[in-house]
Amino acid sequence: MAATFPDGFVWGTATAAHQVEGGNWNNDWWVWEHDPASPCVEVSGDACDHLWRYPDDLALLADLGFNAYRFSLKWSRIEPEEGELSTAALDHYRRMLAACHEHGLQPFLTYHHFTTPRWAVAEGGWLDPRTPERFARYCARASDHLGDLVSFACTINEPNVVALMGFMLGEFPPGHRDGGEFERATEHLQRAHVLATEAIHGSRGDAPVGLTLAMSDFRAAAGSEEFMRQVRRSMEDVWLEAVRGDDFMGAQMYTRIRFAPGSPLPQPPGPGDRSTLMGYDFWPQSLEATVRRAHEVAGVPIYVTENGIATTDDAERIEYVTAAVEGLRRCLDDHIDVRGYVYWSMLDNFEWALGYRPTFGLVAVDRATQVREVRPSARWLGEVARTGRLHAPLT
Ligand code: BGC
Repeated sequence: MAATFPDGFVWGTATAAHQVEGGNWNNDWWVWEHDPASPCVEVSGDACDHLWRYPDDLALLADLGFNAYRFSLKWSRIEPEEGELSTAALDHYRRMLAACHEHGLQPFLTYHHFTTPRWAVAEGGWLDPRTPERFARYCARASDHLGDLVSFACTINEPNVVALMGFMLGEFPPGHRDGGEFERATEHLQRAHVLATEAIHGSRGDAPVGLTLAMSDFRAAAGSEEFMRQVRRSMEDVWLEAVRGDDFMGAQMYTRIRFAPGSPLPQPPGPGDRSTLMGYDFWPQSLEATVRRAHEVAGVPIYVTENGIATTDDAERIEYVTAAVEGLRRCLDDHIDVRGYVYWSMLDNFEWALGYRPTFGLVAVDRATQVREVRPSARWLGEVARTGRLHAPLT
């Protein structure tokens, strides 16, 4: 029998400003994309021109059957220099939020999705103890302008990835590899989340406030359990403990991470393993495993704010999401408070250092013309959203 989901369950898709808007020139990622020493394979350029095309994109989502849309503000667009707030930029995002409501899409609004204004980075970015206050001040101003139209507010997207990739692995800006900096950035990001939560709660609107966290199904072969636990502690547990008491948390997962004895690094997929365009194990089971863990450790209502697959085979996308969402149904059967599923991503978009090659989209984007092409998976998942039933793919 097809799995069914409760009335009111949130079904959405997600994007992030830098990955879809275009014209990102005023933040650290743009600088990083243009640095020949960075690992970026290409620049974000016009991205998906969502800045101008959002009216059609939102209408399409609603037509497909979704009831939610997660997107982010771009801090560098709203506050291009310290203390200089752009009312025009805030008005733009207000129009986007209003368009969501016109189309019956509950907006999840993220205040920081990986990118930080150049001026804040010039003064130290997440290593600077003033950044949390600056971020919270921007959140307060933005929320005063927009808060009454927000259904769910997410302060920071995957702060654990910001700290790991930027300060430990050097693959995101500022490209450092320093354990001490990783700790310091983690501390500042945690403080930024607390201050931003207070700021948003204290301003216009009454949206629940939380953060979104990158999670994985951590697996350890015999002999590597202790190491796996240490990595999981610094990547996940400190954050799951930090969000206790929040209104909700956004859980985001894509795969498993395996550890083997004798190696300080997680194991990549082996020759016989199915993998995705990201080079991840094909492992939709991570959704159930991590939602259960988030529930146990954080104990707050959970929305899956990202889950998805980069693949050239759209049937594989449907297979992945079916398996992932079946796991979510089992969580509901066990009375775990999980309230929604947001697929990453609505559009094929700029996948950070990997550029445009990994295609996560339910909707393809022609890079030369920006023309959108709806994939069968979009129609299928939209129908799941419309009916609350996990049915077989439409043929
Ligand atoms: C991020 C997205 C990213 C996605 C797929 C998440 O870590 O929030 O920005 O595109 O994963 O890699």
